[in-house]
Amino acid sequence: MNLDPAEKAVLRDSFAALQPYAEQASVEFYETLFELDPRLRGLFRDDLQGQGMRFMTALGLVVGLLDDPQRLQRRLQDLGRAHAAFGLTAQDYQTMSEAFYITLRQTLGPELAPEAGRAWRRAFTMMCEAMLAAGRD
Ligand code: HEM
Repeated sequence: MNLDPAEKAVLRDSFAALQPYAEQASVEFYETLFELDPRLRGLFRDDLQGQGMRFMTALGLVVGLLDDPQRLQRRLQDLGRAHAAFGLTAQDYQTMSEAFYITLRQTLGPELAPEAGRAWRRAFTMMCEAMLAAGRD
């Protein structure tokens, strides 16, 4: 992931700031995702409890590996392979990125750095590329 140090810092800081609210934020994240694209609801099992935290935990692992490109790449490849069966598109990752950013904004309000939106959008674009490429193999 080709992110500069300032972008990595804003990703780490905003993700850390979210942690005290992680459980609530996970629920809101999926609600927002399905509002943005109701078609995505059908991909997930009915009971979303647990799924939200799995996503947050996985995202936390990614954020924790920002300075370890090789392990990060392997982690994204594993995730990409685990997602291959869902037939996701780049647009789906874009929607997820938007839902995550809306959740951050709602949860953190003025605490959220102004540069966070751009940094998360870039990070999701790169995660998407790595995950989709691994899924195609
Ligand atoms: C940064 C990107 C993403 C991360 C970190 C992530 C993380 C995860 C994790 C950790 C799981 C659980 C896997 C398991 O239980 O073994 C999962 C499952 C899943 N993910 Fe993702 N995911 C990402 C992107 C997406 C996108 C863009 C979509 C679709 C819009 C998606 C749809 C799903 C679905 C449908 C499941 C299965 C849920 C179920 O079984 O009910 N994921 N994801």
